[in-house]
Amino acid sequence: MSDLLTIILAAGKGTRMKSEKNKVLHKVAGKEMINHVINSASNISSDIVCIVGHQADQVKSVVKNDKVDFRLQSKQLGTAHAVRQAKEEIKSHTGDVLILYADIPLIQEETLKKMNEYHLEKSASLTILTAVLKNPTGYGRIIRDKQNEITNIVEEDDANNKQKKIDEINSGIMCVDSKLLNDALDNIDNNNAQNEYYLTDIVDYIKSKNKKILPFTIKDDKEIIGVNDRVGLSEAEKVLRTRINNKHMENGVTIIDPETTYIDEEVNIGSDTIIYPFSYIEGNTKIGKNNIIRPNNNIVDCVIGDNNNIKNNNVIKNSIIKNNCNIGPFAHVRPGCNIEDNVKIGDYVELKKANVDKGTKVPHLAYVGDAQIGKDTNIGAGTIFANYDGTNKNKTIVGNSVFIGSNSTLVAPLQINDGAKTGAGAVVTKDVKKDTTVIGVPAREYMKKNKETE
Ligand code: UD1
Ligand code: MG
Repeated sequence: MSDLLTIILAAGKGTRMKSEKNKVLHKVAGKEMINHVINSASNISSDIVCIVGHQADQVKSVVKNDKVDFRLQSKQLGTAHAVRQAKEEIKSHTGDVLILYADIPLIQEETLKKMNEYHLEKSASLTILTAVLKNPTGYGRIIRDKQNEITNIVEEDDANNKQKKIDEINSGIMCVDSKLLNDALDNIDNNNAQNEYYLTDIVDYIKSKNKKILPFTIKDDKEIIGVNDRVGLSEAEKVLRTRINNKHMENGVTIIDPETTYIDEEVNIGSDTIIYPFSYIEGNTKIGKNNIIRPNNNIVDCVIGDNNNIKNNNVIKNSIIKNNCNIGPFAHVRPGCNIEDNVKIGDYVELKKANVDKGTKVPHLAYVGDAQIGKDTNIGAGTIFANYDGTNKNKTIVGNSVFIGSNSTLVAPLQINDGAKTGAGAVVTKDVKKDTTVIGVPAREYMKKNKETE
């Protein structure tokens, strides 16, 4: 399969999406449609050419795959005209050409592989991936002759009432001999309802040369959902979410209610982790084994270890949580946090760029920004790390086994050394020495009075 040239069409605006953005930039399960299609084609293709047009630069900028080259279709005159932009590649290619549409994001590598194998096995000149749909509206219909061979594809706008009743549709995906494709592209006109150069018209040409055109009918018709509008986008989203959730459950993750659990495609989750309803797990998140993720969590681009208890209603972004931690309920872990083993981040705690070392507790109602906190330290309720002086963000360093009393305000830049304590309500503006207690506003060292002087 090393000689397969793949052409992906992505130049159209996608008018029916009613969007400022090119259709193929819209995301399904957290990833742009174009990238879903490239991923499915990448392993089975020797080269990939992506036809771009509308917002070409934006489309190019989201594609991060070295195999992909781009060709510009400056005017979108139809799918055949789009393929024609890769003429040089088609001409110089000796094997077959796989054509994919970037608005069919759910197609799987396995299906493309099987279709290509079938195409080679049957020595077909053109193999078209078709599907039988309950509701074929909007798709090109497959016309077959008495021998059951494909003779034509009729677009919805060009179809008569009888043809509209045909339930076998053109997925848009095809595998075709490069020489024939090259010749066919020179013989297509735009004499149709949309005045476009239809790729589907290569059927006529190839048929006229008495070459073999075969359908390859897909069983799971959800794979070929073509996203043309927001309804199609939501359908694709639903199918892919189900596929992703099923994969995790097969791998040993408990998802209590898959219908209300949203996991992006790149997310990894270890076995025996339990996910409660209404969680949204996004981006490049990696979650280890045996975690409990209770309802309503939003976790984005995080690395989470094993045996953590993520209670209800937290927002956790771009951060690392190691093992055996308790998070929430209602915690906000903002980007840049590193939470070591056995840490408790309790209810209504906001963390930003904070390193919290092993065994430390921030149990309730605190703001911890630009901080480094040592081991086995306790941060009392209502503590504020006052990190912003109106111009700069400053850092607070808190040592090991420190006790910060409730309602303390730690005015950064500040260092509170190992074993120190602050009294309730202290406003700490100066560094605190090791094993020293400070109290008051502004905080000063607390000296125990000796009995004789009382
Ligand atoms: C197309 C097929 C239809 C099929 C359906 C499957 C044709 C003529 N019709 O219709 O038979 O059932 O897909 O989903 O091929 N594009 C370009 N340049 C253009 C026009 C389109 O690059 O000038 C790209 C679009 O960005 C899109 C893809 O080609 O990714 C398909 O275009 P679209 O307008 O969605 O075609 P459909 O009407 O869906
Ligand atoms: Mg389409």
